[in-house]
Parts: sequence; C-alpha cells; structure tokens
Amino acid sequence: MNIRKRLMFLAVFCFTASAAFAAGSETLKSGDFSLKLPLGLSAKDVMIPADNPMSREKVELGRALYFDKRLSADDTVACATCHAPANGFTDNLPVSSGIKGQKGGRSAPTVINRAFSDVQFWDGRAATLEAQAKGPITNPIEMGIPNHDVAVKKIAAIKGYAEWFKKVFGKDVNIDDMARAIAAFERTVVSGNSKYDRYQVGDKKALSAGEKRGLDIFEGKGNCIRCHGGANFTDEEYHNIGVGMSATNPDLGRYVVTKKEEDKGAFKTPTLRDISATAPYMHDGSDKTLMDVVEFYDKGGAANANLSKRVEKLGLTAQEKKDLVAFMEALSGEGWRHITAPKEFPK
Ligand code: HEC
Ligand code: HEC
Repeated sequence: MNIRKRLMFLAVFCFTASAAFAAGSETLKSGDFSLKLPLGLSAKDVMIPADNPMSREKVELGRALYFDKRLSADDTVACATCHAPANGFTDNLPVSSGIKGQKGGRSAPTVINRAFSDVQFWDGRAATLEAQAKGPITNPIEMGIPNHDVAVKKIAAIKGYAEWFKKVFGKDVNIDDMARAIAAFERTVVSGNSKYDRYQVGDKKALSAGEKRGLDIFEGKGNCIRCHGGANFTDEEYHNIGVGMSATNPDLGRYVVTKKEEDKGAFKTPTLRDISATAPYMHDGSDKTLMDVVEFYDKGGAANANLSKRVEKLGLTAQEKKDLVAFMEALSGEGWRHITAPKEFPK
C-alpha cells in the first residue's frame, strides 16, 4: 500500500505487544474495544477510518446487522448467507446466490482479514469496508431492497434497532451508521496463529517437512510471493493471470473501474489465509481445489493479450505440487472460528 492511501486512515487506535500471549502477538485497541490479535497480525496494519473508531457496542450492533436477514427485501438473505462463518466467511459456491435464488457473476470473497485492506471487491471499486457494506443491501440480485431510504425505514421500524443506534451513534438509524457498525464488526474477523506463523517465530516443528518444502516453492521456484507477499499474503495490487479470459464476454475486472487498457482482466490478489476453507477459487469460482489452482499456475496461467509478466510456466514435479498445496493448507488459522450469529435479534 502506498503512503497516500495510508494517510487516508488516521491512527485512531494504539497497540501494545502482549507478553502474556505468544511472542509477537499484539492487541488492537480502539475506543473501549480491544482485541488480542492472533500471532502474525500487526495492529498497526488494521485500517480504521478516522470517523469510525471501534467500540464494543458498535461491534455487537454490527454483528446483529451482519447476520440479520431482515436486511434483504424478502427477509431471506443476510450478509452471512454469502459470507458464512462455517464456510470460512464465504458461501463455498462458484458464484453467489442472492434473493429468489438469483446468481451473480462473481464468487464471494472471504470477509476474513478484510481489516488489513483499504480497497474492497475483486476490482477494488469500494474504498473502505464502510463503502462496501452499503452495496449488497440494494443490489437487486443480492439483498434486493429498492434503495437505502427503504432499508433505513425498515431497520428503524424495529424498536430494538432504533434504540441501539441511538445508544451507539446518538442518532436515528441512517445508512452511513449502518455501514459503520457492519464494518466495525467485520474488522474483528481476523485470522493468524497458523502453523506458518508459529514457524516464523521460531517453532521449527510447526511445519511438517512437506509443508516446509511447500514454503520454499512458494517463495522460490513458484514465485507466488511476488504477488501473495506480506502478512496477509497479498500485495493489494491487480494482476491479470488469465482467469475467465477465454469467455465470450469476459469479466474485465479492474478495467471496469479504471478504463485503462492494461487493467483488462486484472483482479485483486486475494489473501491466502484460511484458503483451504474457501473453495472454490478465483473470481469466477473456476478452480474447485487448491491442486487445480496449482495446476493452473504450473501451466503459466491462461494465455491472453494482457497476461501478467510475473506469471510464467513453472515446471513443478508432482511432489512439488503436493507440497505447495500442503503449505497453503498450513495457512489455516484462528481468530474467526468462534464468531457466531447473535442468539437473538432486536425486536
Ligand atoms: C448474495 C450474496 C452476497 C451477499 C448477500 C453479500 N455479499 Fe459480500 N460479496 C459477494 C460477492 C459475490 C462479492 C464479490 C463482488 C465483486 O467483487 O464484485 C462480495 C464482496 C464482499 C466484500 C469484499 C471482499 C474483498 O475481498 O474485496 C466484503 C467485505 C463483503 N462482500 C461484505 C458483505 C457484507 C457486509 C454484506 C451485507 C451487507 C454482504 N457482503 C452481502 C456476495 C454477497
Ligand atoms: C501475478 C501475481 C500473482 C502470482 C505470481 C500468483 N498469484 Fe495467486 N492470485 C493472483 C490473483 C490476481 C488472483 C485472483 C485472480 C482471479 O480471480 O482472476 C489469485 C488467486 C489465487 C488463489 C485463489 C484465491 C481465492 O480466494 O480464490 C490461490 C489459491 C492462489 N492465487 C495461489 C497462488 C500460488 C500458489 C501461486 C504461486 C504458484 C500464486 N498464486 C501466484 C495473483 C498472483
């Protein structure tokens, strides 16, 4: 992430290293909210907009909204329908299914570790989690409420919510605060302390021999790290690796936002944390398994006019492919598995 983008986010929190937890783990603090981050994640990397500090009550309100099907036109679809905790905060479908079973064109990405990204969506068209959260509610094939005024009226008519918004924001229900509460909740959905993280801080037994070989391929022969680098395994950039480009009318990804020729078919590099929980893979769900993904990269991606120069034929052996998959499976972590829907929703 460049400096300009980082400046958009004021440091509204402080962080402390916690000695009681595993070495190197940190606590995210914002308002009266605090969250012990799992090993491998850094509090200074959490992006909290200056006008939306966290609070315990705000996170709880956001959790209720996130799991509440009344945020859709016919009370059948919640955010959690397509981003369910049981499925690694995705829906495990190639493309998502919204109200009345309507299908969209893209696969639902995970909500895990979104706090570490400024831009959202496969094409980065939303600048914050707050901006992103407003989209699905009025998307006709997702939650299908005609407009934000209708959504606000619907939530405000539920007495429990009307009172809760007053308590948290000191105001009546409005769309910006709905989005703020949901985003605050989403920032608590984190993943770290994987076998890989424990290995990185010196527990040499944390990775098996095969997983270690997979790590070497990830950083060396496979060169995955040049795009999937850093603590969240993404460079937060857009690349064309060729997925879906042979379709008659391919999804042009980042190009739709920038209209730059070189962005045709480029998509945001996704995180690889907890990747084994979020199949199928790619923006169109075209790869069923991690082995399919590895086979795809081994062939040098899919040829098209805009293919990234960083993708090339790898010539991996069968064992190397298995090791690379094993390494990705070792990125399964914790920090999100305990999250559930509230027992009761506001009435
Ligand atoms: C019908 C299924 C569906 C519903 C309901 C839904 N989403 Fe999504 N979500 C998707 C899909 C598909 C995408 C990817 C769309 C794109 O990139 O154009 C997405 C993208 C996202 C992203 C961006 C993730 C990233 O890696 O860039 C976040 C965050 C998110 N959704 C949160 C939410 C929230 C919060 C709600 C409720 C207000 C919600 N979603 C409702 C399917 C859904
Ligand atoms: C040029 C940058 C680049 C390189 C190099 C790269 N990736 Fe990716 N990776 C991406 C992008 C961009 C996507 C999303 C593409 C899409 O959906 O169109 C992606 C998607 C994935 C996915 C699917 C994630 C999901 O949530 O659906 C996996 C798994 C993955 N890559 C693993 C790897 C591995 C393993 C390597 C090394 C062999 C690698 N990548 C090399 C950029 C890259």
